[in-house]
Amino acid sequence: MIFSVLSFLAFMMGNALSDSTYNGYEHPIWKLAAEQPEDKSYEVREYAAANWTSTGMQGHFGKDARKAAFWRLFNYIQGSNSAGSIMSMTVPVTTCISTGATLFDTKRTMSFYIPLKFQAEPPTPTNTDLHIEERQPMTAYVRTFSGYAEETDWWEHIYVLHADMLRNGVNTANIDLKSFLAAGYDSPFHLINRRNEVWLTTPLTPTPTTKNDA
Ligand SMILES: *[C@@H]1O[C@H](CO)[C@@H](O)[C@H](O)[C@H]1NC(C)=O
Repeated sequence: MIFSVLSFLAFMMGNALSDSTYNGYEHPIWKLAAEQPEDKSYEVREYAAANWTSTGMQGHFGKDARKAAFWRLFNYIQGSNSAGSIMSMTVPVTTCISTGATLFDTKRTMSFYIPLKFQAEPPTPTNTDLHIEERQPMTAYVRTFSGYAEETDWWEHIYVLHADMLRNGVNTANIDLKSFLAAGYDSPFHLINRRNEVWLTTPLTPTPTTKNDA
């Protein structure tokens, strides 16, 4: 009895830290870091290693480029992969924006988190513009905001996040300041309480696990 109560409590605590779904969509595994900013202006999360499916956007950031990237990824989970596996949609959809040598070398990569069921052995994408990316365990500094987010909004919020981190004394020497992640949690049809996040992270050091690359 005591044992089951304890394990139930442990389960609830684990869940309180990070429920495994958002509005019914599976999301990557994370927990709150021990240290959080006193003013709660952002959240510090520890993400476990995970495989994602990614596609490059060839420098483009407009709506059309985002739509095209989204559908390439969507086709992958609809069965355009070596196993013909159909996977559920997950959240968030992330776009990694990384700076290049010039403005015009800025890279944008959109990714879907691979459902836990397929994590250990993600099927290879049929479309060679897609690749599997294994993200190492990372710490993410996360700022959340609502509304319909365009790239200008992401930039606005990443600047605020960075200022908040500095104010809270974060040593940014350990943070990758050459890229950030924009995370979207809702479809365009979800009209209210939309969740967007921008993340600064410890270096992502993605390991491509397939030869396919964009
Ligand atoms: C990601 O997929 C590769 C196989 O492509 C596998 O070896 C690796 O363990 C997976 N990573 C995780 C975190 O499950």
